[in-house]
Amino acid sequence: MSESWTFVCATDALLPGEMKTAFDETTGAGIVVFNLDGDLYALEDLCSHEEFELSSGGFDPGNATVECVLHGAKFDIRDGRALCAPAYTPVAKFPVKMEQGGIWARDDRD
Ligand code: FES
Repeated sequence: MSESWTFVCATDALLPGEMKTAFDETTGAGIVVFNLDGDLYALEDLCSHEEFELSSGGFDPGNATVECVLHGAKFDIRDGRALCAPAYTPVAKFPVKMEQGGIWARDDRD
């Protein structure tokens, strides 16, 4: 588990409908942060089907989903739930915060 927060980007660099990526400075896990109408959500940047970067796919703010570009699995960006085949297991959800003009996230898994 990472105790320290990883800087993702400046607050004004992630507009509604956009996503940004970073790597957790302690665990090395990929992180993707979504701005959904001003609310921020962070997931592990890794599809649970065959471990492909979710950030390569499409963020659909209207449905709060991200679609894996490799085989089309969709996940709810708010909690990481898998919404359709071929993925059946959720993607890890990470804590995210705004502080000191920046967006920060961290891999909080044990
Ligand atoms: S790797 Fe994401 S759907 Fe297959």
